[in-house]
Amino acid sequence: MANADAAKKAAGIRAVDFIENGMKVGLGTGSTAYWAIMEIGNRVRQGLQISAIATSVQSEELAREQQIPLLTFTAFDYLDIDIDGADEVDENLQLTKGGGGALLREKIIASASRKLIVVADEHKFVPHLGAFPLPVEVTPFGWEYTFRQLTAMSGRPKLRQKDGKTFITDNGNYIADCNFGIIKNPKSLETLLNAIPGVVENGLFVDRTNILVLGFEDGTTKIL
Ligand code: 5RP
Repeated sequence: MANADAAKKAAGIRAVDFIENGMKVGLGTGSTAYWAIMEIGNRVRQGLQISAIATSVQSEELAREQQIPLLTFTAFDYLDIDIDGADEVDENLQLTKGGGGALLREKIIASASRKLIVVADEHKFVPHLGAFPLPVEVTPFGWEYTFRQLTAMSGRPKLRQKDGKTFITDNGNYIADCNFGIIKNPKSLETLLNAIPGVVENGLFVDRTNILVLGFEDGTTKIL
């Protein structure tokens, strides 16, 4: 296993220790959240009783394979805990997310959760957000107009592509990968972006994280 994977695996598995019997759990998306879902599956098969909702179709399919009982939003008002990855985390535990394109469902589920536990390998912990392109989910209708607004904000948007085609999110939208340089004020940028008509959500997760589980290449973890 590559060392970065060992760090992701360590973080994902360690975070599952925060789950208690009876909890309603948000399941994140990505290669670090993958390990948390796999470990939740192990523990469910050993008798842990939880129910969960996934932040993407991909994670929902994995949860089904792992026999994790799934919920929908008709069944609850809040979740106890959400375990999800990040593309960047700063020392104030502000995040950029959405590298996997799941940011909208991820933000809805983080918002519905009493506790957000972020799992990340050590390389994601950065002094400032902004080196990783910031994903902004936009509606297909009028996306060219929306991109012009993002350009006017110095966001240098690029339409995300996958396998030579425009990437479509689980919600049927496009992703603008933006480059704002160093993000000095994540809170105001998060608000400003969401005020643009056509922007559905953006990948800044500000003042949401309760616990960061960092994984290291030697397989150890640190809780912040
Ligand atoms: C998906 C996300 C992921 O959590 C983020 O991209 C981190 O992924 P990984 O753990 O694979 O590095 O936000 O939309």
